[in-house]
Amino acid sequence: MNSDIEIAGDPLALPHLMPSAPAHPATVAGFAGLARTIAADRSHWEPLVRYDPATRWYHRLRTGPGYEVWLLSWLPGQGSGRHDHGPSSGVFTVLEGELTERADGMGRTLRPGGLRVFAPGYVHEVVNDGLLPVVSLHIYFPGLTEMPMRPPRPGTEVAGVAACAAAPVAPPAG
Ligand SMILES: [Fe+2]
Repeated sequence: MNSDIEIAGDPLALPHLMPSAPAHPATVAGFAGLARTIAADRSHWEPLVRYDPATRWYHRLRTGPGYEVWLLSWLPGQGSGRHDHGPSSGVFTVLEGELTERADGMGRTLRPGGLRVFAPGYVHEVVNDGLLPVVSLHIYFPGLTEMPMRPPRPGTEVAGVAACAAAPVAPPAG
C-alpha cells in the first residue's frame, strides 16, 4: 500500500500542496517567523528609518489582531531604561548594528540574526553602548499598553539610560 508521501511525492517540492501561511501569527514561533521575515526584507523597513538625537526614534510598522510591530532606532548612548512590558509578551531582533541587553544581572550583545522572546513580567534594559547607530524590530502581543519603569540595579547604570528613564511611557522600549 502506498503512503501519502509516495502518492504525492515530496511535499516541499510541490508548494501548491503546502498549507498556506496564516495571514497573522498566533504563536510565539509564528511571531518569531514574522520578525525574521520582516528583517530579511530590507526594502520594507530601511527607507523608513530615522534617527532622533533627542530620544529613541520609533515607528509602528504594522498592526494585526492582538499585536503590533515597531521599528526603532538607537543612536549611540540611547537606551530604554530598566522596565517591564505590563501584560505584553514580545519578540525583538536587531536589524542593524549591536545592542546591549541587561536582564537578571547579566548582559548580552544582540546582533542581526539573533532573536529575543519574553513573557509578561520580564524586566530588562536595552542600550546602544556602541559607537554606531542601531535599528531594531519589536513585536508586542498584545500591543504594548504600558511600560512600567523599574529602578536601576545597583552598579549597572549605563551611559544614556538615566536621561531616557524619565521619558514618557508610551513608546516601546525594546
Ligand atoms: Fe523592553
